[in-house]
Amino acid sequence: MENTILNLKGKSFLKLLDFSKEEISALIDLAELLKTQKKAGIPHRICEGKQIALIFEKTSTRTRCAFEVAAHDLGMTATYLDPDASQIGKKESIADTARVLGRMYDSIEYRGFGQEIVEELADKAGVPVYNGLTNEFHPTQILADFLTIREHFGTLEGINFVYMGDARYNMGNSLMVGCAKMGINFTACAPKEYFPDEELVAKCQEIAKESGATLKFETDPKKAVKDAHVIYTDVWVSMGEPAEVWKERIDALLPYQVNKALMESAREDTVFMHCLPAFHDLNTGVGKQVGEQFGLDALEVTDEVFESEASIVFDEAENRMHTIKAVIAATLGKNV
Ligand code: CP
Ligand code: NVA
Repeated sequence: MENTILNLKGKSFLKLLDFSKEEISALIDLAELLKTQKKAGIPHRICEGKQIALIFEKTSTRTRCAFEVAAHDLGMTATYLDPDASQIGKKESIADTARVLGRMYDSIEYRGFGQEIVEELADKAGVPVYNGLTNEFHPTQILADFLTIREHFGTLEGINFVYMGDARYNMGNSLMVGCAKMGINFTACAPKEYFPDEELVAKCQEIAKESGATLKFETDPKKAVKDAHVIYTDVWVSMGEPAEVWKERIDALLPYQVNKALMESAREDTVFMHCLPAFHDLNTGVGKQVGEQFGLDALEVTDEVFESEASIVFDEAENRMHTIKAVIAATLGKNV
């Protein structure tokens, strides 16, 4: 099957705002096809001999492994630059790093802080650059989320999607943009101060007019989830934020925890999603410390929901790899 609408050769993948609904759909289609090939043991070394640099200024399990496995399956070689082991930011600017890596590599992934950093990297590198998470956006995560929803419900259009928690950060922002693009009805459910930035909301409202999506902002969890097909949440304190904000986040967001009572206020077939990692028990260093300090046994999602039949978080995690593979292949001009 030739994927004819996908002509993204040479293009960077920095935020979903830069892509049309058709392009996002085509990337998900390509990921689905590559996933089928992988499961059937059909090799797809369509980027044989190409090189990718992976810059991580923040830690990662899924994104790093997804890029490394995807690159390997495509016949590529990957170099991992960890948060401490390169000159980036300390002895060398992003602009200089971009021009160096662009001479050696065919593409570059960047995980770090401001969106402007990955935009500058892309501007100077001369090769496709992929956003592996910034404070503002996490676009490769959204492709995986949407592939997972499509696999589960057979469609994206008309799905009612509720994001619970801190909707001002990378996950809330990117999911709102993605839903607006794809015709998914998006609700952010949080205290008002945790709603996404007004300028981004206005942009998404414009996009939603074309796709038919609705965008809602709700402070009452039970009202928000009433017709939800998907309830999604993320950690309340993101990478790079100081530990001191835990108290204010717990005070504000505990009523928005995804627990059994909330799931029961939704539909029979509602699924639970989370980009991961999740604080659903006290089996992590941070979870244990924060849980004990505040007398809680879970934070943004209870263990009961996380481990329930409704939870599709590990399908979602697997799909990071298939969707990232599609982004690399498409932007290097390779198709299957
Ligand atoms: N979801 C996600 O980006 O996970 P990592 O931080 O492990 O990459
Ligand atoms: N909001 C989280 C997402 C992790 C995948 C963070 O930035 O840490």
